[in-house]
Formats: sequence, structure tokens, C-alpha cells
Amino acid sequence: MTIISKLAIAASLATALTSVSIAQDNLSGLTVGFSQIGSESGWRAAETSVTKQQAEELGIDLKFADAQQKQENQIKAIRGFIAQGVDAILVAPVVATGWDDVLAEAKEAEIPVILLDRGVDAPEDLYLTSVASDQVKEGRVAGEWLVAEVGEEECKVVELQGTVGSTPAINRKQGFEEALAGHDNITIVRSQTGDFTRAKGKEVMEGFIKAENGGADICAVYAHNDDMAVGAIQAIKDAGLKPGTDIKVVSIDAVPDIFAAMAAGEANATVELTPNMAGPAFEALSAYLADGTEPEKFIITESKLYTPADNPQGEYDTRKGLGY
Ligand code: AHR
Repeated sequence: MTIISKLAIAASLATALTSVSIAQDNLSGLTVGFSQIGSESGWRAAETSVTKQQAEELGIDLKFADAQQKQENQIKAIRGFIAQGVDAILVAPVVATGWDDVLAEAKEAEIPVILLDRGVDAPEDLYLTSVASDQVKEGRVAGEWLVAEVGEEECKVVELQGTVGSTPAINRKQGFEEALAGHDNITIVRSQTGDFTRAKGKEVMEGFIKAENGGADICAVYAHNDDMAVGAIQAIKDAGLKPGTDIKVVSIDAVPDIFAAMAAGEANATVELTPNMAGPAFEALSAYLADGTEPEKFIITESKLYTPADNPQGEYDTRKGLGY
């Protein structure tokens, strides 16, 4: 069974995956460039797998370029795609700024560009559409969960931010802070980037624990993705504390490893980000190439909260092996 077929039978992901059933015959034989950020997280690996799988199923020749987390590599890759005369370009932009020139070059070459999972600070006419979650909402959902969880108790929160200058880091911080507004018993006492990686999440959490009375003063960690949360869980355990109990753990992505942690009582909540950004992107591209149909400028994927009440072992079993 293919990754896509397995994903399609996972009820929790079903709505996000309906697009694969829609005929997109006109994409067969096209060449599409995909500038991916890198492989910083389990979620990123899944997005790459799903995109490659979808392209294969649709008969698209996907030119894949891994930017190793560097914007300069992405710009170089996009210029290479333009020089090759690809039919369309997918790009997951590592940071928000600095895209105007290269996007204008693609527009000049009449190559449609679709943004995946992150946004850019650039004029909207420079790209066809942006397929991403509502990242402010993701942060808000995580924050609302914490507000409900702690009630009136005093709660000091440490925050592991994503990559500096990326839209998920900016927006997930904003949404979380919005949810905490007016709840003066909950305060973010430390906030630092962990660059969306497990290793940095662990390292930064170790620093937070040292600075906060060996972790005794920390009530919760909010991580902008699950990989950093998994790193933080290890740091909490290394400090002799119980993640999920002594320090609550809330994060974003819904990757299998966070469900394994949740099943073990070591994580408390995650907000799902579907790795299937390519499905809606190819659907929009197909319609655009067929008759010039302009897609919505922002195609928003769903953001669902999962807690231990949602059968984390079952979620782990469903998702493991799906490219994460
Ligand atoms: O842009 C989406 C974010 O990028 C995911 O939440 C994170 O895991 C990834 O690195």
C-alpha cells in the first residue's frame, strides 16, 4: 500500500487528503521543481515523502532540491528551475523575507509558483497560491489548551520557538500569546529558538531547566513543533523530572513520536499539521493550467488538537511508517 493510500485511510487525515482522488490528468508529463527547506523535523520528512508520492502518482517529473535550511540554497535552486524551464515551482520558504526578486524572475518567465506550509512577505501577485495551515490559530489552540488545563494555578511557561524569521515561528508565538492574554496566572518566563530540531530543542530546554531552579519552577513547555518537544522531554527526564506531569508538554505537528510520548504519559497535547500540502497544491495547479482558474490566494489546512483522550497509541500505530 502506498503512503498516500495509507494516509487516506487514516480518519484523522481524511479531509485533508480528499484532493488525491480528483483527476488531474493534465499534470501528467509536466516537470515541477520543488525547493524543500531540508529535513529538520519528522513533519518535514513526511511532507517530502507525500509530495514525491503524489507527483509520482500524477505522472509529474518532480525535480527535488534540499536547501539544507539555507535560503540562499533555495534561491539558487529556484533560479536553476527557471533556467531549466520547469512547468511550475513548489517552494517551502525557510524564512518570510527576501523572496521578491526570485519570485519576480519566476513570474517574468511565466512559471507559476506555489508556496507550501510557510508564507512570505512579498506581493501576492508573485505567487499563484499558498497552501499552509493557519499558524496563528495553531498557537492559539495550544495556548487555549494550556489555559483550560491549568485553570487558576500559577504557571510559568518556557517556549521553544521555531526557526527565527519563519512564519510558523512568528505566528505560533503570536497565537499562543493571544490565548494567554488576560490569564495573568500564566506567564512565558523564557523563550528561545530551537530551530525546529530535536537536538536544539533538547539543548535549549537544558538551559531553561538550569535557569529555572532545576526545572522546579517550570510548569509547562510550549514547543513550536513536536521534534523540539521530544528533545525537551529528554532534557526533562535527564534532569530527574517527569515530563507530562512535573512539566506539561504542548506542541504542534502531530507526528508519531509525540503520540508515542503521549501514550507513555510524557506529552500532553499537540496540534495537527497535515503533511499533505502537495495535494491541494497540485489540484490548484491543475485547474489553473486547464483554463486559467485562479485558486484562492491562501488555501488553509486544518488544525486539530490531540490530547491523551484521543487514543495516542492508536494515532501512533496509524501514522508510523507514513513517511515521518
Ligand atoms: O512549516 C512547518 C513547520 O516546519 C513544522 O511545524 C515543523 O516541524 C517544520 O520544521
